[in-house]
Amino acid sequence: MRNIIVIGGGAAGMMAAVAAAKNGAAVTLLEKNEKLGNNIYITGKGRCNLTNACGREEFFAHLVHNPRFLYSSFAAFDNTAMMSLLEDAGLELKTERGNRVFPASDKASDVTKTLAGLLEKYRVKVRLNTEVKGLILEDGCGDGKDGEKAGQTRRCAGVMTAAGPLYADAVIAATGGLSYPSTGSTGDGYRFAKEAGHKVTALYPALVPFNAKLSSGLPIGSLQGLSLKNIEIFVTKSGSEKVLYREFGEMLFTHFGVSGPVILHLSSAVAEVIAKGPLNLRIDLKPALSDEQLKARLEREFEAAPNKTLAVVMRKLLPAALVEPVLAGQKLAGTTVVSRIGEDVKKRIVKALRSLEAELTSLRGFGEAVITQGGVNVKEIDPKTMASKLVKDLYFAGEVLDVDGYTGGYNLQIAWTTGAAAGRAAAQEDKETRREKMNRSIAIDGPAGAGKSTLAKTLAKELGMIYVDTGAMYRAMAVHFLRKGLTGDDEAGICAACEDAQVEIRYEDGAQQVILNGENVTGLLRAEEVGSMASASSVYGPVRSRMVALQQELAHKTPVVMDGRDIGTVVLPDAKLKIYLTASVQERARRRANELREKGQEVDLATIERDIEERDFRDMNRPIGPLKQAEDAHLVDSSDMTIQEVIDTIRRLYEG
Ligand code: DC
Repeated sequence: MRNIIVIGGGAAGMMAAVAAAKNGAAVTLLEKNEKLGNNIYITGKGRCNLTNACGREEFFAHLVHNPRFLYSSFAAFDNTAMMSLLEDAGLELKTERGNRVFPASDKASDVTKTLAGLLEKYRVKVRLNTEVKGLILEDGCGDGKDGEKAGQTRRCAGVMTAAGPLYADAVIAATGGLSYPSTGSTGDGYRFAKEAGHKVTALYPALVPFNAKLSSGLPIGSLQGLSLKNIEIFVTKSGSEKVLYREFGEMLFTHFGVSGPVILHLSSAVAEVIAKGPLNLRIDLKPALSDEQLKARLEREFEAAPNKTLAVVMRKLLPAALVEPVLAGQKLAGTTVVSRIGEDVKKRIVKALRSLEAELTSLRGFGEAVITQGGVNVKEIDPKTMASKLVKDLYFAGEVLDVDGYTGGYNLQIAWTTGAAAGRAAAQEDKETRREKMNRSIAIDGPAGAGKSTLAKTLAKELGMIYVDTGAMYRAMAVHFLRKGLTGDDEAGICAACEDAQVEIRYEDGAQQVILNGENVTGLLRAEEVGSMASASSVYGPVRSRMVALQQELAHKTPVVMDGRDIGTVVLPDAKLKIYLTASVQERARRRANELREKGQEVDLATIERDIEERDFRDMNRPIGPLKQAEDAHLVDSSDMTIQEVIDTIRRLYEG
């Protein structure tokens, strides 16, 4: 079982911990605050806009940086998967305007509670008030040979906390960004990433309001609290006509500048640009009307109240607070009586309604930003697994990565998607390591009586490897079936009985012990009826898939010498050396007869030969995992060889 440490109990960290534990890992989640889910309440004004229920294309259209990086992890765990995960765990959801998804209760804490419930269900150890000081990085675990990525010479062996080191098979850094420092996000993850040799791109507060000044010189604070719907904003660099950004929607004035949905989006789009200098914001207050329509509207208002002043009539078209700033923008006098207004001035009024202008001076800080833009350079991260390409056994998830989206649930979905990918991958030992172990294993296949087990045992001893007798596992299953009173031809009965058979392998003084549902059945396995039942029941799919999985698991832990029927073809297709050991039926029958005579039993050679032929036929002709020589296996016929000659031959092959 893999031991995984997840740093950070926010959205990405909780998700990573659940995913890793679900995939069989023993997970410890470290959170420096006194509670989990501190970043979950930020979105949706405390209600938790946990994702967006849009389609895939729309989802990617709402990502600002590195959307492509998310393609494969999103395919594996998308917004619908997240909604199902929460709903299956008992959280009712609702979808609002713009496909924004919220807990039906409108309580962000219910999302955290649901995830905490899953952490408990999957036995994740949660350690609160535990601050990680740094990663434990070990040098020199790889040299770029044997398929290992060149340069990947370091591995992350755990983390350092105030209470001392914690070691693990893999570490997932889900430390959040710099935004909302009150949630405990202080950018530790960026430091860890840099220590591990990663590049961190420039960091900007995003989804954040702006400091701004009205171009007319009037104080912007006088508009504080004014919210505008159905407006369109246009943003340009000072002195340039080129529109950098335009969007239709809602915005808000604050005492220091501007905020609200379109402004927050804008901040994500121009965070980098505004760091170099102020920008111009033009607000079209009537984007739905053409110039002609707007002029006609104005004339209708003028005709209805010909003796009123322009400032008074404009209130029909605008919130009162905006009248002065709008007119000031085109240097229009509010005191003019409207019946005296000519064509030229009407055009200027139309223009004024289209161009309430302000200078955006800077972004507000990280303290008010929903997210951090920038982060660990995704070029150095495997997009499928979130694994560091530089340091083995190190993963990143969530905001610490250089991926971000607009408001609407996209950023939390990034956290869920990357957290799920990292958790899943970290729980599974990386393929390279598995293959490397398998690559050192030896697979021996062949019919009964060819001398496989003697050969395998001797080789394992000489090479310091573990011997796995897979026939014994099928035999243990056979014991289970016999005890249930089943016969070999009862496919349905055997497949059903498979469910409650737990076979394990242990080693005592180097000898394999087979444990069936907690009982050591090694002593029972060589009985004739057990052999027959093993041969008969091993044709069924459910029996084989259980055994193959168990055998692969053993070989993933340590290099093995494994013998059986399908080892080179199915169980260890990447084994370093594959042997197909056979002998003539007559020779095998003679050996078996000698064995039985030594035990003092009466033997009939013809019967033994017939039994062997029958068993060979059954093993070689079953549809699943039949006995056959793998294409890359060495054929060794032991009919005329002593056991020592066989061993010497195979050692030469192994060493060669
Ligand atoms: O090797 P053995 O005689 O102990 O194996 C007992 C039976 O188990 C054999 O008849 C076929 C089956 N078996 C199998 O199907 N696949 C294996 N890898 C090993 C054994």
